[in-house]
Amino acid sequence: MTPPQKSKAARLVSLLLLPLLLIGQPAEGREPVYARKGMVVTQEPLAADVGVTVLKSGGNAVDAAVAVGFALAVTHPAAGNIGGGGFMLIRMADGRTSFIDFREKAPAKAAHDMYLDSSGNPTQDSIVGWRSVGVPGTVRGFELAHQNFGAKPWAELVKPAIDLAANGLPVSKSQMDSWRGGHAENLLSRFPESKRIFLKDGAFYDWQEIFRQPELARTLERIARLGARDFYQGETAHLLANAMAANGGLITLADLHDYQAVERTPLEGDYKGYHIITSPPPSSGGVGILQMLAMLDGTAYEKTGAGSAETYHYLAAVMQRYFADRNEYLGDPDFVKNPISALLDPAYIQKRRATIDPARATPSDQISPGLPSAGEGTNTTHYSIVDDQGNAVSVTYTLNGGYGSGITLPGAGFLLNNEMDDFASKPGTPNMFGLVQGERNSIAPGKRPLSSMTPTIILKDDKPFLVLGAPGGPVIITAVLQVIVNVIDFRMNLQDAVDFPRVHDQWKPDRLAVERGVSPDTIAILKRMGYSVDEGYSALVEAIRISDGWLQGAPDGRASGKAAGY
Ligand code: DON
Repeated sequence: MTPPQKSKAARLVSLLLLPLLLIGQPAEGREPVYARKGMVVTQEPLAADVGVTVLKSGGNAVDAAVAVGFALAVTHPAAGNIGGGGFMLIRMADGRTSFIDFREKAPAKAAHDMYLDSSGNPTQDSIVGWRSVGVPGTVRGFELAHQNFGAKPWAELVKPAIDLAANGLPVSKSQMDSWRGGHAENLLSRFPESKRIFLKDGAFYDWQEIFRQPELARTLERIARLGARDFYQGETAHLLANAMAANGGLITLADLHDYQAVERTPLEGDYKGYHIITSPPPSSGGVGILQMLAMLDGTAYEKTGAGSAETYHYLAAVMQRYFADRNEYLGDPDFVKNPISALLDPAYIQKRRATIDPARATPSDQISPGLPSAGEGTNTTHYSIVDDQGNAVSVTYTLNGGYGSGITLPGAGFLLNNEMDDFASKPGTPNMFGLVQGERNSIAPGKRPLSSMTPTIILKDDKPFLVLGAPGGPVIITAVLQVIVNVIDFRMNLQDAVDFPRVHDQWKPDRLAVERGVSPDTIAILKRMGYSVDEGYSALVEAIRISDGWLQGAPDGRASGKAAGY
C-alpha cells in the first residue's frame, strides 16, 4: 500500500527540505507498512498472507488469529505450534476483552523436585526430551477463542495450514540457516523423527527447496474435522500418550482429556492518557508493563531523549525492581495468590521509584522483592491482527526453546514443547533464561509455569491504538515496554519504535544487556554509572498501530517477518 498522501503544507515543507535530503534524510527512519482495512504482522511471511486472506474473505481478527496460529505451526516450526501453548489477548470493537490462557500444564505425575539429581542439582531433563514436555494447550485455546469470538467455520481456518503442510513450502534463507548447525541441528539430531522431518535425515534442506509435512497435514485434517477433541481424546491424543509411555514421558491420556484452556480477565491500567490492556498471570508480563510504566511516570526520564544514557538508566532501574518482584511473587493464579494490587499500588510504586538514584546504577544485591509481607499462600512467536471492524488480537505462543523439547511426535508430525523449564526446577537457581525464581513458581501437578509472554493492546479514546507482543523469554517484557515508550514518550514512527536499540536488565544476573546500535559513548557513560554492560539481544516485536484512519504494521527489523495489510 502507498503511505498516506501528504497535505499541501507538508508537501511545501518537503520541497523546502529538498536541499537537506541531498545531504541526508532527517532521521525519520523506515516507514511501517500502511493499510486501510486489516493488518496482520507475523514473524513468518506465508502465515501473514494466510491471515490477510481470512480477513479479506470476511473472517474477523479472531478467525485470522486461529488460521495464522495453525499456519505458523507449519511454516515456522521453531516456535509456531500445536504442541505448545500460549496466550491470546482479544479486544473486540464492542468493548469486550478476553485473555485466552492456553498455557501448558504440568502433567499429573509431575513433582516439585522431578528435575533434581541425587545431589539435589537441576538436570537438563526440564529442557530436552520426553520429560520436559508440558501438556499442550494450543489446540484447545484456539478452539475456545473461536467458539467465543470467531465468525467463520473452524475447518476453513485450519485448511490453509493443511494445504501448506501437504503441498509444501519453499524453504526460506532464515529457515535453512536455522536448521543447519547450532542449536536446532544439535537438538533435532537427537530424535530420529525430528531428524528425518526437519533435517532431511542430515542431508538438510536447501534454499527454496520444497518442504512437505504429510504427517502434520494428516493431524491437521483430523483437527479440522473433529476439533480439539482429536488432540485431547482422539487419535492424536492416543499417539501422544502411547509415545510418552514408551519413552519415559509423563503425559497420559487423562492429562490430555483434562486439559482446559481458560478465559481470564486481562490486566488494565493507564499511562499518560492511553489505556493499557495486557496479560495477567500466569503471564508475568502484564504486571511488569504496568509496574514499570507507573515507576517511569513522573520521573521525567524522557527529557534526555531516546537512546541517551540517562533514559537507558531509568529503563534499567525500573526493570531491575520489577524483575525482583516478578521472580518472587508471581505464579499460576490457580495455585498461588498473586499480589497484583499490592504490586501496582501507587504508594508502593512511589516507594520503589524513590530508591532509584538518578545518577547511579543500583547493584542487584541492594534490590529485593519489595512488598512488606506477601504472607503465605499468598523460541516463541508473536503476531498481531486488526480487522476492518476494529477488533484487535495479540497472540504469543511457544514451544519454549527453539524447536521445544526436540521431539516430534511420531506419526503426528509436530514438535513438543519443553515448557516445564519455565518452572523453577529448584527455587533460587537460574533456569534456561537465567531467571532466578521462587517457590510460587515451583512444580506441581496440573500447574502452569509462569510465563514472560506479554501480548498487549493499548487504547486511545477507547479505540485500539497499539497491538503488540514478542517472543524471547524475559526480554519480551522489556522489549514491549521499550516499544510502548518509544511510541508514547518519544513519538517515534512505529517501525522506528520497534527497531530502535534496546536494553535489558532482569535484576539477576546483575548485568545490563545492550543491543548492537547503542552507541559506544552511551555504553561508556552507563559503565561509569555503575552498570556492568554486556552485548545482548532483544525480542522480536510484531506490532500494529492505528491512527488517522490508517493501520500501520511493523515487523521487527531484527528478523524477516512481514506486515501484510489490505
Ligand atoms: O513463556 C515464556 O516466558 C517462555 N517459554 C518464552 C520462551 C521464548 O520466548 C523463547 N523465544 N524465543
